[in-house]
Amino acid sequence: MKSINPSRRQILATGATVAGALAFPMVASAQAPIVIKFSHVVAEKTPKGQGALRFKELVEKKFPGRVQVQVFPSSQLFGDAKELEALLLGDVHIIAPSLSKFDRYNKKIQLFDLPFLFDDMAAVDRFQSSAAGKSLFEIGRGFRGLAYWHNGMKQMSSNRDKLTRPEDVKGLKFRIQASDVLEAQFRALGASPQKMAFSEVYQALQTGVVDGQENTWSNTYSQKYYEVQKTIGETNHGVLDYMVVTNAKWWDGLPADIRTGLSEAMAEATVYANKLAGDFSKEDRQKIVDAGKAKIQTLTKDDVAAWRKALDPVLQKFEGPIGRDLIQAAQKSNL
Ligand code: LMR
Repeated sequence: MKSINPSRRQILATGATVAGALAFPMVASAQAPIVIKFSHVVAEKTPKGQGALRFKELVEKKFPGRVQVQVFPSSQLFGDAKELEALLLGDVHIIAPSLSKFDRYNKKIQLFDLPFLFDDMAAVDRFQSSAAGKSLFEIGRGFRGLAYWHNGMKQMSSNRDKLTRPEDVKGLKFRIQASDVLEAQFRALGASPQKMAFSEVYQALQTGVVDGQENTWSNTYSQKYYEVQKTIGETNHGVLDYMVVTNAKWWDGLPADIRTGLSEAMAEATVYANKLAGDFSKEDRQKIVDAGKAKIQTLTKDDVAAWRKALDPVLQKFEGPIGRDLIQAAQKSNL
């Protein structure tokens, strides 16, 4: 008959297990939290700034003491030329560059810079939610796309009195983000594009290093460009949105439950940031009107047709590297 008395070995083994179980919480609580650095270049009172803070709040609520999210706004940690490199080096863990800034790493994402590709933000949203849009999360080169965040449609501004027709920007110097499509866009207009970091734009406009720029209502307001520009043409000629990206290797090395929790928090922060983007666009446009500095000029249908015609060669030029299928998928999102 088998003895029901536990052997000395069993007692020792059980004792060790109990001791281990008791010791584990102490070890766990003494463990340093996982620190996630989220760096970006815009002000806090912007859709991206608020989205990053909401992500932090959600993550820290889900994983109290286990995960800490540190958000660095306004190029405090890295400016936009450096933040992508810093992510690959593991110096930051999450960034949300504008889609234009992936130019060096992935030619397909240049799609978003094509002028007059999307009629409005609803079309941008439809495309980003589609399988074709999501396929761009596979950026390669060590990046992993997590979400698209909106900012909004771009407007052009200049230090001249009029900005409604393509010829109004001819011969002017324009700050652009580091994107070859945007460079081709201004060349097609007979303007002179200059790639420049976001953090340098206000001063470049103020001192006349450049005559104009293109950006969203939110950035034009939060960076105070309207104070140093005479005219804003309501061109809505392109989109400035973001891809929230992480370092694929770092992400894959996280404990599975944390990865799941981060994905859930990101999905929730995305809904929040995207809703805010719509609100900021309207409110910041109105604040610029109220400030009474730069004057806003709206375009007629005829003006828009002239811009489209002038910029059509840009679409032809980049059809090869971006891919006709992708361009057509994006065009289909315009209802
Ligand atoms: C810019 O450089 O103008 C923008 O990409 C900045 C931003 O992140 O919105």
